[in-house]
Amino acid sequence: MSQGEKPLILTGAKPSGELTLGNYLGAIKNWAVMLEEYECFFPIVDLHAITVHYVPAELRRRTYQCLAQYLACGLDPERSHIFLQSHVTGHTELSWVLSCLTPVGDLHRMTQFKEKSSVPGASVNAGLLYYPVLMAADILLYNADRVPVGEDQKQHLELARNLAQRFNHTYSDTFKIPEPFIGKTGARIMSLQDPLRKMSKSEDSPGDAILLPDPPEVIRKKILSAVTDSGREVRRGDDKPGISNLLNIFSAVTGRAVEELEKEFAGTGYGAFKNALADSVIAELEPVQDRYRRIIEDKTLMHRVLKEGAEAAQARAYRTLAKVSRKAGFIERLR
Ligand code: TYM
Repeated sequence: MSQGEKPLILTGAKPSGELTLGNYLGAIKNWAVMLEEYECFFPIVDLHAITVHYVPAELRRRTYQCLAQYLACGLDPERSHIFLQSHVTGHTELSWVLSCLTPVGDLHRMTQFKEKSSVPGASVNAGLLYYPVLMAADILLYNADRVPVGEDQKQHLELARNLAQRFNHTYSDTFKIPEPFIGKTGARIMSLQDPLRKMSKSEDSPGDAILLPDPPEVIRKKILSAVTDSGREVRRGDDKPGISNLLNIFSAVTGRAVEELEKEFAGTGYGAFKNALADSVIAELEPVQDRYRRIIEDKTLMHRVLKEGAEAAQARAYRTLAKVSRKAGFIERLR
């Protein structure tokens, strides 16, 4: 890195459903504070959203929603590059080169692939299996130094690191080895109905997840009906996955330590604790929701952000792509 150049961050989310409180606390909230220290690339990874059954018109709508959420959560397009993965040439090209360096067995071992492909009736396409290679390409195309993600993406990131090393070893030094950047709180927000599973965008059981656009009364209802554990004590523990998850959410939202929250709610019972948590989550999301309502109506703004973001991303992507093509032995295209 030359002097004065900031380290580069790349991270993104799939527009496959409404973003959840898990996406917000485990990811986007943390990205918004990195804008000064890092050069930030925030793709919305729409190519990743088609590995499972989807409706094209729905994908378009979700993609705008995801962009408006990014902006509403504080990602500033003046200080970062926000773009669509499908707008930049290079993600799929690099993923092909990387897939030729990837043992298929490594992909079969990926936890998320195993989970998604084992759902009864799931149609397993090659894209679902190759998904982590595309993710590695997303990261390496920009030569990212760090990749802030929730804990569920750790294994995919490990593959990206391996592929960077393998490419460097097979051809010659080209890629930095990207470092995962996993927050101390909020890195693994669990389902409200089954605290042993990750909170995710699934639409089958709406009580599982708080969605960023949920109105206050819905947020409160979901939190009040969150599964808790036996006993009345508000404390963290392996025997209390439900309350531990709620404490973790409380801590991630307010920035207060879990121990401090345990003290405050000692002896109060679950009801008072859950209501206080609902107040905090509602207060945290209300300003985001206000901004979201304005931004989602402003297509001019959203198109400008995407255009500028894609231009900056493409310039960088072409540089990497040219280097990769040369090293892999392809003849340079004559212009
Ligand atoms: P996605 O869209 O599932 O999630 C986006 C981000 O949110 C985090 N996250 C969570 N964090 C804490 N608790 C949860 N319950 C929770 N659910 C989701 C994820 O860890 C992620 O940081 N494969 C990625 C998208 C991707 C990507 C990339 C990320 C594609 N290419 C390159 C980083 C770099 C995914 O499906 O994220």
